[in-house]
Amino acid sequence: MTGVERRAAATSLSTVADPALAGGAAWIEGELVPVEEARIPILDTGFVRSDLTYDVVSVWRGSFFRLDDHLARFQRNWTRVRLSPPFGRDEIRALLIDMVRRSGLRDAYVAMILTRGVPAPGERDPRSFRNRFYAYAVPFVWIQRPDQQAAGTHLVIARDTIRIPPTAVDPTVKNFHWGDLVRGLYEAYDRGGALGALTDGNGNVTEGPGFNVFALVDGVLRTPADGVFDGMTRRTLIELVQEEGAAPLQLGPLPVAELARASEVFLSSTAGGVMPVTTLDGATVGDGRPGELTRRLQARYWLAHEDPRFATPVTR
Ligand SMILES: Cc1ncc(COP(=O)(O)O)c(C=O)c1O
Repeated sequence: MTGVERRAAATSLSTVADPALAGGAAWIEGELVPVEEARIPILDTGFVRSDLTYDVVSVWRGSFFRLDDHLARFQRNWTRVRLSPPFGRDEIRALLIDMVRRSGLRDAYVAMILTRGVPAPGERDPRSFRNRFYAYAVPFVWIQRPDQQAAGTHLVIARDTIRIPPTAVDPTVKNFHWGDLVRGLYEAYDRGGALGALTDGNGNVTEGPGFNVFALVDGVLRTPADGVFDGMTRRTLIELVQEEGAAPLQLGPLPVAELARASEVFLSSTAGGVMPVTTLDGATVGDGRPGELTRRLQARYWLAHEDPRFATPVTR
């Protein structure tokens, strides 16, 4: 098969899964390849400069969850960092659905990435680069597996590392500047924790690697409003809590001291949903088991995946 034929085959919509893609598929420059074979150009500034934005959407039981909301967020973010994909949002949408269909994955973690691209030799002006789009789908990723969620996790609030200030790197534009988040994770390991979250340097909790933070304090469900990513799981939970009046909600600064006296703490992420925290900085949260509101929201979150408002089936 010629390159052109391969490209045509890769981009045309297919209803059959390809067993070669069962472990995951990647879309690179018009070709669908097994994810373990996917390669990016070493000079892509997404790789050497973190000059990109990306988004991650899940597929659960054969349907994308909030696909159009993810695409809208992705578009807002690429616009904010002055990127422009080589094709439109509708084509990205069709390509993602096709990629997952061809992988045959029913529960998947689907990433779309737009990089500044590869400069011409000697070129330094980012305005001249041709931006590049990449995507991949792999089996569903859990920050915390369901069996671990049943027990809850041990969260550490890092003391030696703060979140990159929003005026340096905008955390609402999903990015690969994970140096601070990974440093916080190592600090958590060093202090006997499983996950680490960072503060803003002024005593307020922000977020951690791949998740937002919620706390139930004096019966009020609180989560930071600024200086954090507008997580889709966070957004879904806020909407569910508002729709159902499950608890009073407060979006705003969440001081570490308030978190420390919370009766329930949980984390939210596409990669795992609602993840209970039962130990915070070595101290027990509540009665040491996932809290009642946490468990209720966890159940509601997964139920929302069946809601036709949110579900886009992969098979037509
Ligand atoms: C820094 C950060 N915060 C929060 C989240 C959670 O966002 P979502 O619920 O859309 O997965 C992520 C997801 O990767 C993240 O990277």
